[in-house]
Amino acid sequence: MPVTVAPPLAADKTGQSKRQRENVMRTALVILAAGKGTRMNSDLPKVLHPIGQAPMLAHAMQSGAALNPERTVIVAGHGADAVAAAVAEIDETAQVVIQQEQLGTAHAVDQARDALQGFDGDVVVLYGDTPFIRPETLERMVAARQAHDLVILGFEAADPARYGRLVMHGDRLERIVEFKDANDEERAITFCNSGILAGNAATLFDLIAQVENDNASEEYYLTDVVELARARDLSVTAIACSEEETLGINSRADLAAAEAVFQSRARADLLEDGVTLTAPETVHLAFDTVIGRDTLIEPNVVFGPGVTVETGSTIRAFSHLEGCHVSRGAVVGPYARLRPGAELAEDVRIGNFVEIKNAEIAEGAKVNHLSYIGDARVGAASNIGAGTITCNYDGVMKHRTEIGKRAFIGSNTMLVAPVAVGDGAMTASGSVITRDVEPDALAIARASQENKPGRARKLFDILKARKEKRAREAK
Ligand code: UD1
Ligand code: CA
Repeated sequence: MPVTVAPPLAADKTGQSKRQRENVMRTALVILAAGKGTRMNSDLPKVLHPIGQAPMLAHAMQSGAALNPERTVIVAGHGADAVAAAVAEIDETAQVVIQQEQLGTAHAVDQARDALQGFDGDVVVLYGDTPFIRPETLERMVAARQAHDLVILGFEAADPARYGRLVMHGDRLERIVEFKDANDEERAITFCNSGILAGNAATLFDLIAQVENDNASEEYYLTDVVELARARDLSVTAIACSEEETLGINSRADLAAAEAVFQSRARADLLEDGVTLTAPETVHLAFDTVIGRDTLIEPNVVFGPGVTVETGSTIRAFSHLEGCHVSRGAVVGPYARLRPGAELAEDVRIGNFVEIKNAEIAEGAKVNHLSYIGDARVGAASNIGAGTITCNYDGVMKHRTEIGKRAFIGSNTMLVAPVAVGDGAMTASGSVITRDVEPDALAIARASQENKPGRARKLFDILKARKEKRAREAK
């Protein structure tokens, strides 16, 4: 009896598993990612090129995750070590198998055979370079499996170019013909193969074992399983999705187009979720950007990975945020930079040309102009004057600055960390603070001012005389 790695399914009194009751198919994902991607002209494996700042492979894995797969197998080849390292970060339960030589899509899927030993549910094959398949589309495929042994995902191609053609007979798929092997009549077909398919694991691996490479490319085509299945009287169908979902990436131009698709989808989702984007096409989002409703995002804002912006806040124009958290009612920018570890509490104000890194800014605190706050904590309702800098790095180590509540940091204060400024304390403008300031104290740390009467006029006279002398000598 095969051993199942997946957790046992809970059976109820009727003897049906929970999944059967819910009519959910058990699935495993096989994601093909071994190709070289020659046309990317890159040292980075194609599937690791980013879209929305996550590897495109992560997008494919995320779509597939909607099926709640029991196992996920990534077929890697070119750059397999880098692919395996990336996969481990995305989903530590996913397995990576190696396809040493790229002998075709059927050969690629066959590499997952051992990893899927004992799995008797459905296999859904995805491509690592096809990141936009909607989870709903995969759910429709799995649903269509109730009535058919094999389900292929097709699309009406505006320009069928070199895609495989789906030869249909009613809702029955007869076979898939690769462009290279197609006759004129078949080439006229516009219903094309996305490459994505679903079928029972045992059936699929059986069919794949029969695939030969006697075709124009001398490759083992996964598409051949359709005819092989028909020869066994299995029922095969194709369902359609929008062409946009099947967008595959083969070149940098495709990558740029894919980024555009990702961005427009992500922006549309935010608008739908009640976020105001004044100029949506100028806002750049990451795969994991979270923005609460009734937030205003002004033009030209860039979100790196790991940003959460809570409801009712405002991100003003030309700001750059990554790895940070902005609480309700906060206002950031214009021209602000929030770096990883920036943690803004409610109603904080971060103004123009301010950089915040690894620092908590407590409720109602303001850092409005031209400042760097790094490795620090700023207490509630404190005001940080223009040009303040936390000098957090001594060239070897980083040090922290702790500022209490209701403190007032004068403009152009250098806070040489490690240093602390107590609650209600004040620093004089232009101070270089190297020692802790106790609560409610005023710290002045700058040379004291001296005015010398008449000295400016004398100095000007000397300088003018010097200039005239030089001009005479030059003649
Ligand atoms: C394939 C389909 C074609 C479909 C098209 C959609 C076959 C025979 N053809 O063609 O019908 O219209 O996709 O884009 O399946 N890969 C491996 N190992 C291999 C070969 C491929 O991992 O040995 C991976 C590639 O990295 C890629 C995917 O499988 O992600 C598709 O391979 P590719 O060579 O691009 O297939 P196409 O010729 O485009
Ligand atoms: Ca391709």
